Amino acid sequence: MSTPTRDARTIGILGAGRVGTAVARHALKAGYKVKIATSKPAAEIALLVDIITPGATAVDAVDAAAADLVVIAVPLHKYRTLNPGLLVGKIVIDAMNYWAPTDGEVNDFENDPRTSSEVIQAFLTGSRLVKSLNHIGYHELEEDGQEPGTPGRRALGDC
Ligand SMILES: NC(=O)c1ccc[n+]([C@@H]2O[C@H](COP(=O)([O-])OP(=O)(O)OC[C@H]3O[C@@H](n4cnc5c(N)ncnc54)[C@H](OP(=O)(O)O)[C@@H]3O)[C@@H](O)[C@H]2O)c1
Repeated sequence: MSTPTRDARTIGILGAGRVGTAVARHALKAGYKVKIATSKPAAEIALLVDIITPGATAVDAVDAAAADLVVIAVPLHKYRTLNPGLLVGKIVIDAMNYWAPTDGEVNDFENDPRTSSEVIQAFLTGSRLVKSLNHIGYHELEEDGQEPGTPGRRALGDC
């Protein structure tokens, strides 16, 4: 991740699993403030966050959604448990993938010609969705992380 700009100093992450915590550690290393939430109250994940992502703050989803930039890293089949109202006007990075072996067969994605992100964008009315961080394994985020300017540095796409 690049050095924080005046426009995005705090990153809110919805999901404290494999991807959410890897993104959190990386963002902290890059100098961002990180707020991380799950569907549970902040107090229930505070210890986990302290241990797994030291420096990040465990918050409720409403507080993570209030960050300058929000990353969604929840299992895709749970997307309807997100609150679209919290994300209106936000730039939201969709790190989610649809993978039936883990998500189960989800009608919204099996029988809809749209991409999963188009479905999520329609659900999160009022947000500006950016698809990224979904095409790299959570462990590779840190294993392959290199300083800006490093020759051969791995790039991530977004759209
Ligand atoms: N694993 C990878 O290497 C990888 C790579 C790229 C993309 N992805 C994609 O990234 C997404 C997350 O994968 P993962 O492996 O990190 O999943 P995971 O380890 O199962 O973690 C999912 C997290 O989401 C939380 N969560 C569920 N519902 C939530 C909600 N409504 N609000 C906030 N948090 C919520 C869960 O906590 P609670 O259930 O306690 O709320 C948990 O902390 C998936 O769509 C996956 O396809 C995964």
